[in-house]
Amino acid sequence: MTIDVRPKTDRGFFAEIYGANLKDCSDADFAIIKDAHLSHGVIAIRDQDLTPAQQISFSKRFGPLSIHVLEEQLLAGHPEILLVTNKKENGRFLGIPDLGRKWHTDQSYEERPALGSLLYALEVPEDGSGDTWFADMTAAYEALPAEERRRLDEFEAEHRYDHKHKNFELSDNQIDRLPGVLHPLVRTHPETGRKALYLGVQLVKRIVGLAADESDRLLADLHTHCTKPEFVYCHKWRKGDLVFWDNRCTMHAAQPYDDTRFTRHMHRTTVIGDQPC
Ligand code: SIN
Repeated sequence: MTIDVRPKTDRGFFAEIYGANLKDCSDADFAIIKDAHLSHGVIAIRDQDLTPAQQISFSKRFGPLSIHVLEEQLLAGHPEILLVTNKKENGRFLGIPDLGRKWHTDQSYEERPALGSLLYALEVPEDGSGDTWFADMTAAYEALPAEERRRLDEFEAEHRYDHKHKNFELSDNQIDRLPGVLHPLVRTHPETGRKALYLGVQLVKRIVGLAADESDRLLADLHTHCTKPEFVYCHKWRKGDLVFWDNRCTMHAAQPYDDTRFTRHMHRTTVIGDQPC
């Protein structure tokens, strides 16, 4: 079966991929998938049936994997997998039930944030809720007037885990590992060479060098701009989807669902990226 890549928007942002077998992915098929990821920013590889070890092994072909700071939400025996789930055992959530509900890019609070994240759907809500929205940060940047782009190119922003990211209280040790970091507000993609806004409501605290009210206003304006419908694609999950997004040029936000009636159970692997520049 040949791999079929189907872009989902006129601009080519987001593509669905059919006919891939990630358990046993040849170098030729891998090259098609890698190219689709770079060209479309986010890919949803449909109809997979992966064990944790198979997901880890496929993910590692893109680079070394990170181990998330929330150690208690990792899959036992496979610490490369972060559990994004509302399943419970003995009255306690097995993983994070409401991860990433505000716009963000993964692990931007680290020196070397995530290149990309691969989220594999084992169970999805039966009523079709629990979508994930993705924003095309390259298109959002390129749509700004040239003068505004030149101004933004000069700024840095502070990213902090604890800005609006209240899923779990961190221990003192975890806090010490995440003091916050400065990244450029506009980053150049190391593989495509294209510039993109590097933002996130959840994790970006301030723009360096601006007064607090000016920084808040500019961040709010930029987030409003990037999340206009023309830059956003909504992915509707199916069981067996492996969605791989490029954190260097996209933001995402998970949408709520009725977690008292439905189960949404996913495994996330995360590929370590470069220091943004
Ligand atoms: C995440 O931000 O990694 C989770 C996204 C989702 O659950 O849809």
